[in-house]
Amino acid sequence: MSTVPAIVLVGPMGVGKSTVGQLLAECLGLGYRDTDDDIVAAEGRAIAEIFVDEGESAFRAIEKRAVATALAEHEGVLALGGGAVLDADTRALLTGQRVVYLSMDVEEAVKRTGLNAARPLLAVNPRKQWRELMEARRHLYEEVASAVVATDGRTPEEVTQAALDAL
Ligand code: S3P
Repeated sequence: MSTVPAIVLVGPMGVGKSTVGQLLAECLGLGYRDTDDDIVAAEGRAIAEIFVDEGESAFRAIEKRAVATALAEHEGVLALGGGAVLDADTRALLTGQRVVYLSMDVEEAVKRTGLNAARPLLAVNPRKQWRELMEARRHLYEEVASAVVATDGRTPEEVTQAALDAL
């Protein structure tokens, strides 16, 4: 029998998947894993470097493999990179799993991340790019989610509790 993560977290960059994921894992006495960390460890370079060196589509291919591996191996809480749901095969793998979509609006995104240029997809005119990104992705997050937890104005502890309540 293959293993299945207890909880998968999806949502846009900066929404707090890592922080909430670690809190959730602690509350549940489970391990925490993050596919961005897996990619950095396997590639030996930062994600921004992969984008610059090889472009987004090469990164997506690496990400797709990393996500499939983590989904098959990890039994705890798993956070996916914000763009992982763009891939249809990845979305199919998420079907039937406990997937929490952490959502936030653009104002919350500005507050949390400053929409800083260190994020490769938000380097130019970040507010407009963030809106466009969410327009393209919101329905994909909703498609895979078994629960949606709004993070706006909430602390990581409050979001964690809301996620536990929603499951
Ligand atoms: C991305 C989100 C990032 C990282 C990469 C691309 C995206 O992960 O995978 O920069 O396309 O939204 P986080 O959501 O963990 O920041």
